[in-house]
Amino acid sequence: MAKKRSLSGIKPTGFPHLGNYLGMIRPAIDLQDEYESFYFAADYHALTTVHDPKALRHSVYELTAYFLAFGLDPEKAAFFRQSDVPEVTELTWMLDCVTHMGLLERAHAYKAAKDEGREKEISHGLFSYPVLMASDILIYDSDIVPVGKDQIQHVEMTRDMAQKFNHAFGGDYLKLPEAKVRDDVAVVPGIDGRKMSKSYNNLIEPLLPPKKLKKQCMSIETDSTPLEDPKDPDTCNVFALYKLFSSADEIMEMRENYEGGDYGYGHAKLALYEKLVDYFAPYREKYVDLREDEEYLEEVLAHGAAKVRPVVEGVMDRVRSATGLGRP
Ligand code: TRP
Repeated sequence: MAKKRSLSGIKPTGFPHLGNYLGMIRPAIDLQDEYESFYFAADYHALTTVHDPKALRHSVYELTAYFLAFGLDPEKAAFFRQSDVPEVTELTWMLDCVTHMGLLERAHAYKAAKDEGREKEISHGLFSYPVLMASDILIYDSDIVPVGKDQIQHVEMTRDMAQKFNHAFGGDYLKLPEAKVRDDVAVVPGIDGRKMSKSYNNLIEPLLPPKKLKKQCMSIETDSTPLEDPKDPDTCNVFALYKLFSSADEIMEMRENYEGGDYGYGHAKLALYEKLVDYFAPYREKYVDLREDEEYLEEVLAHGAAKVRPVVEGVMDRVRSATGLGRP
């Protein structure tokens, strides 16, 4: 039996952070044996915020090197640029025409911007972000979409749009995908305790040079309990992050440190930093080598784009003929 298809994307908007790694990158790569896996750098989506061509290209290389360093096998899975498949913008338009404003107005990102009174500053691209994302998913006949919890709503909206399209044109033209969210992955807190997110500027970026990583770890916000006093690990961001990379015994020991007193947040931060450096050192080494070889990265991207092309052409034939666009 043919393998089911896993598809996901990530925006090239800067160095990937711990939240990206645990929420999407690791889970997606882990599926490459069981599923036919298509993953891409969402450079069209990045244009909603990045207006610097050099920065965009560099971020795509960083992401590509990142996926490879963490074990994406370009012979098994495809890694490519979203813009290598310009047909996604064509399918986006078709979906635009069956998608109600009301659906888009319910999107969390738009609602948040509106609640902050930034409604008038939002570009049309940002407002219709979920339609492009739906197109990304539907154009590959995707079965599952490995994403972090924050993207579940977008996958639900994708199903809505596919149903609207199928209903409007009277056939099962687009396949309804399912979000695949690992429930063992907690929301990753940033250094200020809010969800780790580029827009909060509260990142820990595990493949940074150790000195910089240390600086990020040491700037995690904690309360002002004095060094001597016992501390509550369960309300501490440092502990929450430490838990993500430690064994049950190590977690227990750290808990005892907190509760016993005479153990400062500085000690805990250092322990976290050491954990992260050790854990990520082999990946960082691979990453640094890969990142230098842009020619190779371009080869990987081109190879990935070529691999997904036949699937795209099949789906586009189907939707063009369903809508009456193009030549019969
Ligand atoms: N919206 C996703 C994010 O911000 C990135 C993305 C774009 C994506 N297109 C996608 C994810 C398609 C999954 C499937 O992280």
